[in-house]
Amino acid sequence: MPYAAPTGAKDILPEEWPFWRHIEQNIQRITALYGFEPLGVPIFESTALFTRGVGEGSDLVVQKEMYSFQDKSGDELTLRPEFTAGIMRAYVENGMHTRPAPLRLYAIGPIFRQEKPQAGRYRIHHQFNVEALGEEDPVIDVEVMSIAWDLYDALGFKGLSFMINSTGCRECRPAFVQALRDYFAPLAEQLGETDRTRLARNPLRLLDSKDPAMERLLASAPVIHDFLCESCRTHFATLRQYLDLLGRPYTINPRLVRGLDYYVKTVFEVWAQDIGAQAAVCGGGRYDGLIEALGGPAVPGVGFGSGIERIILALKAQGVQAPALPLPLVMLVYRGPAAKVEAIRLLQTLRQAGIGALLPYRDSLKAQLKQADRARARFALILGDDELAAASVTVRDLTSSQQVSVPRSEVIAWLRAHGV
Ligand code: HAM
Repeated sequence: MPYAAPTGAKDILPEEWPFWRHIEQNIQRITALYGFEPLGVPIFESTALFTRGVGEGSDLVVQKEMYSFQDKSGDELTLRPEFTAGIMRAYVENGMHTRPAPLRLYAIGPIFRQEKPQAGRYRIHHQFNVEALGEEDPVIDVEVMSIAWDLYDALGFKGLSFMINSTGCRECRPAFVQALRDYFAPLAEQLGETDRTRLARNPLRLLDSKDPAMERLLASAPVIHDFLCESCRTHFATLRQYLDLLGRPYTINPRLVRGLDYYVKTVFEVWAQDIGAQAAVCGGGRYDGLIEALGGPAVPGVGFGSGIERIILALKAQGVQAPALPLPLVMLVYRGPAAKVEAIRLLQTLRQAGIGALLPYRDSLKAQLKQADRARARFALILGDDELAAASVTVRDLTSSQQVSVPRSEVIAWLRAHGV
């Protein structure tokens, strides 16, 4: 093999596309129900936007996961490692705060992270990303979360678990972070290398440690809920009240913290079993203060990102099928060069009328009918000398093998009447 796809990048073969289409179609249907509009943002942006946006303490920066480069004009650019920072930049740059709030936006597209590839973790993945800007009421947090719920429900997921937490705000979190530092400082010797870096750079991330030895230490570590200020406490209580009201099942996980620095108050993730170590199909939360930090007005926001590859992995693990993509139901079959010319003409007429049709590329009738079978066509339209003379078509039902002669001018109407 002279060339292989880069590590962590994969092809999406035709047989995968029914899942992608099914997911995209449901995303379009559900976002429309919730009044979310699409927004496109560039695949690369200035590196500074991401460093500032996701934060110096985020996994993306600390673990050097960004694909950053300098272009010919000397600009420092980065392939987007997430959507939120770019969407906030677009919001500020296009003066979108003057639009009625809350502004409801969604985006779908590729995301680039130089992570260690493993099951469910790629260097190029695709996200469905939702953001609601300009509203503090926790009801919008619930609306955003409900989009994920409804999508996964529509796709036929079973046994998904929504985890929620509050990570406090700029007022109350520093005391919690200090308490974590104080608790872990004397235990530093017992921490692995990654966790020692976290203790130094972002102690909050210790709560998300994957090291089994941390279980015991974390069991008696300080808990965020003992540190929340009145505003964060009320926000979280109201959020839960609304989730209960709507019968949305969730688990409170006081150790849920996210890998990006901008979160305040609400954070949530959705986990699926059986898709490898990286089990989160969705992650998000509130990021009041981010737009301000990027030079915009003080506008609150909440959103999530959901990895499409992980959704597909989880669906497959659960044995859920996606509806097949529509294939042409009609195959033209011809005998001789004059009939071939007529077949080419009819092929175009059918497609212009919105009927999918294929032309076989073999001369013998038998080979052509075999191709019709392989293509899973329902009808073969046969053209030979007799049909040319009578300006008709012989329509063969490929399931029952029954044939009828139909005037060529009526063939479209005939096919429509027979469910094509
Ligand atoms: P995130 O948790 O970093 O959040 O990513 C969101 C989702 O993308 C994850 O739950 C997972 O499904 C998928 N994902 C992440 N990394 C990979 C990977 N290497 N391979 C496959 N799938 C992956 C964000 O990106 C935030 N911007 C979400 C957000 C939007 N928060 C507020 N608004």
